[in-house]
Amino acid sequence: MKTKNQFKSIKILESGKAIKCQLKNGKEFRYHSQWLRDNALDSETRDSNSGQRLIDHTNLSNAYIEAVSLDKVGENVSLTFYPEKKEIVFSSNWLVEYAYDINKKKETGWVNSDLKTWNNKSFPKKLPEINYQKAKLNKSLLYNWLLSLKIYGFAKMNNCRIESGAIIDVANLFGYIRETNYGKYFNVKTNVNAINLAYTSLGLSPHTDNPYRDPVPTIQILYCLENSVNGGDSIVIDGFYAAQLLKKQNPYYFKLLSKYSANFEFKEKNKVHLKSKHPLIELSPSQEIITIRYNNRSIAPITDIPYKKMIDYYKAYILFSNIINDSKLAVKFKLNPGQCFILDNTRVLHARTAYSGKGKRWLQGCYVDKDGLLSKISTILN
Ligand code: FE2
Repeated sequence: MKTKNQFKSIKILESGKAIKCQLKNGKEFRYHSQWLRDNALDSETRDSNSGQRLIDHTNLSNAYIEAVSLDKVGENVSLTFYPEKKEIVFSSNWLVEYAYDINKKKETGWVNSDLKTWNNKSFPKKLPEINYQKAKLNKSLLYNWLLSLKIYGFAKMNNCRIESGAIIDVANLFGYIRETNYGKYFNVKTNVNAINLAYTSLGLSPHTDNPYRDPVPTIQILYCLENSVNGGDSIVIDGFYAAQLLKKQNPYYFKLLSKYSANFEFKEKNKVHLKSKHPLIELSPSQEIITIRYNNRSIAPITDIPYKKMIDYYKAYILFSNIINDSKLAVKFKLNPGQCFILDNTRVLHARTAYSGKGKRWLQGCYVDKDGLLSKISTILN
């Protein structure tokens, strides 16, 4: 395999407490000896199967490098660590992949470069789709489809079995069911004494599911078994795109919605009482947008905003709602029996148009954990 990164030189810095590696293209990266020793890949440091660490990081503060050498092509670096007198080899590719001596400064509200944000116009004309049988039998087609689910936060599947509970088979293709008080999966159909507005024929405005759960369900599948009503179309909206648009239109409002927590709550009398507290737009410590929680039905009294900022917070909340409800962001489609869609519930909002009482509309839904999806993407072709 061709090595992408070749080093020209390696130097010891700070009396062995660090090294500096220079690539043939002139780029330089520094690494601390303590960090290098902690992350060594030899079989005494890391278990060769699981990659789990076998040493104690608290004993490495005194590690320093006494000697360095580079092979002829610049693809392997040998480092001798003291006081252990231990030689460890790192590949140039590994060192570049895990380089941390780089300018990481990004604007608040950035989105991971692995993802593509979208609106109605920029969403791919051809939705990422796959047939259930192909997904089951062809690993490389399944991989491509799962990857597009990761990138866009949304994908469709066709030709699924029209049978109650078959949704579980779809979940098992890429992950594990997250069971809740609604069960392993739940029915979405008209119900006269509905405990949740989703179980009526009313339209549902854009929302992410169950923000009152902690942790929030990360992947949702909605699976159609019957749909002969007028209306009842499905709509999806990219929440990351909406959040970035909010930031563009009013950075202060973006700051309010990402800095302060909202409260979410769901009650089913004497049975269930779920509560959570998180911002509508959640950022990581490095200011990356990581989760959107937006559900007008289950937001509870918001109490974390200082008195003098509450009105501004409501203005921000209203502007964010207007952006989310703008038809320019919405991708609309009809889900037919035997079709399902999968979405990243930490990012993509979904909605439903109202439908008439004539005919039947029967969907089933379930939640799946996103870490399982990402793990599947990582390993399916191995
Ligand atoms: Fe929903």
